[in-house]
Amino acid sequence: MPGRIRHSDIEEVKARTNIADVVGEYVQLKPAGIGSLKGLCPFHDERSPSFHVRPQLGYYHCFGCGESGDVYSFLQALDHVTFAEAVEKLAARVGYVLTYEDGGAQDDAERGQRTRLLAANKAAEEFFVQRLTLPDAEPGRRFLGERGFDAAAASRFGVGYAPKAWDELTNHLRAKGFTPEVLAAAGLVSQGDRGIYDRFRGRVVWPIRDVTGQTLGFGARRLFDDDQGPKYLNTPETAVYHKAQVLYGLDLAKRDIGRGHQVVVVEGYTDVMACHLAGITTAVATCGTAFGADHVRMLRRMLGDEEASSQVVFTFDPDAAGQKAAERSWDVIQETRIGAQTYVAVGPDGLDPCDLRLAQGDAAIVRMIDEKRPMFEFILRQTVARFDLSTLEGRIGALRAAAPVIAELKDTALRPGYTRELARMTGAELTEAEHAVTAAGRQRRDSADPAHRRPLGGAETSGLSREGGSPPPAAGGETPAIRASNPAGLFALATDPVTRLERDALMGILQQPELVGRDLAGQAAEARFANQSLQVVRDAIAANLDSYAESGWFAKVLADVPAPLAGLVQELAVAPLPVRDEAQLAGFVRGAVAALVEKDLLGRKAELQGRLQRSDPVDVDGRATLQRAMADIEQQRRAVRGE
Ligand code: CTP
Ligand code: MN
Repeated sequence: MPGRIRHSDIEEVKARTNIADVVGEYVQLKPAGIGSLKGLCPFHDERSPSFHVRPQLGYYHCFGCGESGDVYSFLQALDHVTFAEAVEKLAARVGYVLTYEDGGAQDDAERGQRTRLLAANKAAEEFFVQRLTLPDAEPGRRFLGERGFDAAAASRFGVGYAPKAWDELTNHLRAKGFTPEVLAAAGLVSQGDRGIYDRFRGRVVWPIRDVTGQTLGFGARRLFDDDQGPKYLNTPETAVYHKAQVLYGLDLAKRDIGRGHQVVVVEGYTDVMACHLAGITTAVATCGTAFGADHVRMLRRMLGDEEASSQVVFTFDPDAAGQKAAERSWDVIQETRIGAQTYVAVGPDGLDPCDLRLAQGDAAIVRMIDEKRPMFEFILRQTVARFDLSTLEGRIGALRAAAPVIAELKDTALRPGYTRELARMTGAELTEAEHAVTAAGRQRRDSADPAHRRPLGGAETSGLSREGGSPPPAAGGETPAIRASNPAGLFALATDPVTRLERDALMGILQQPELVGRDLAGQAAEARFANQSLQVVRDAIAANLDSYAESGWFAKVLADVPAPLAGLVQELAVAPLPVRDEAQLAGFVRGAVAALVEKDLLGRKAELQGRLQRSDPVDVDGRATLQRAMADIEQQRRAVRGE
């Protein structure tokens, strides 16, 4: 049995971790009101952010798909790790030494497969890096040097060298305790008749990392003439490496992508390096596969809801493969409806960034990106170029093929100009071009039925997510995010003022327990609720008044509500409060809770009043008791009002 991590350690690590930092490695977050951050949900596909994170509570919640949880569940989902692995990862991050309850530390064999593969990759990367410095790595160093990369550049990107041998990596990693099974599962070795042997031999090796910087796999460049393998050899699909879901350089580029609202997609590892060294630090590359919908998803998360004002710049090699890549990327862009403006940058003489930097220096790369052209224009030219315009059939074919590109232009103001351009390019009459574009537009609308419009099919975890994202802020103090939440959920029911008040009060208590204070919260916990679900939440608060506002308090409250209502509690805990700034915050939360308490007191007083009226005038004692109770309530009410 593996040792169990001590429960208090799990809490301690969580308390020391800022969930916003962890989530922020995967999702671009921006402030969304007091104590709250938001970004595009990593659990479903969306374009405007409904994914909220509350660092103080250590919780996240998505109003679009309903996913919610803490930092551990986040890592479990996004990194595909077990709970224990998530705890271990965060403990390592904050430098906390875990104690295991029965038995000592978990030994290697008992750790999750994913963790083992990542550890093997890390050890392999260190091995490759070290080997690049040895004498036999001269061909590797020469290759890098010829492409303008010195030792510092190699080290910045973790580039290494796989020795020209069958078993050096294998022996090295086996000596470190990695089993043949793990090495095979990590894709570091291949299986031969007589056992395993190194997959990468006599190659320059680039570590391919995820957005957080963990090495998932490798790309390796052939160096020797007697190497029968492909020019570039990558890690095969493994439990951690999925080529469709990695972008080389993203770990290094993500910050500047988010800041600069720009991403540059190039075609190779050396191009990424060249761009970064030239100051284009937003460059990434796909790894041995075409740019696809998963890549768009990853970029969206980096761009956040600035997507619409962002730029995605592609570079393509000028060869036939590059043209095909451009067309495929264009299709992906249409299918996924990227909100960003898309461009193509082509180097002079068709040089790729790496070669351009070699030939003309860093400034030429910056110029190349600066001189980007809108992608549709590039595609338009490329499409027209496929046809023989000296024939009538060719001209008509070009017109038909290119018209959809113009019809799809998001910026409709550009259409007339480009329709004229198309006419000019194809030698057709303007009216013919206009006709072709109109026809293409009609066809496009006809096919734009809902089934067609669902972007990135299958990504939606709930049928309730909305195409347009959060609705605009509503009038009347209604919190937009609440209206945006699951329409079948309880928030949608909060249309009457009483339920709204109960909801706001609970939000105040859960989100700002200190500002509300134990006394007022205690009174609210005794108040009668009209909404039964909210009353269950109230009960959970009442049950945990002893540890009110202490660390771990919220988790206890959450644990005390029945499972079907956990989502409601999480929504209450993360939904933005309708306040503009910190100054309004205390007033709002105290005000809401006080109003709830006062309403309850008034209700109780009215009830006593009724009983008093119906009471037997002869029952003097009984009436006196009722009157005292009423006076008592009135006093409480004044106290709540601060009178
Ligand atoms: N690639 C690949 N498999 C190949 C060839 C290329 O996966 N057989 C991918 C690699 O990711 C590579 C990128 O395509 O980084 C660009 O390949 P290419 O243009 O052929 O190489 P360059 O980047 O120009 O590098 P080099 O200087 O090594 O020729
Ligand atoms: Mn190239």
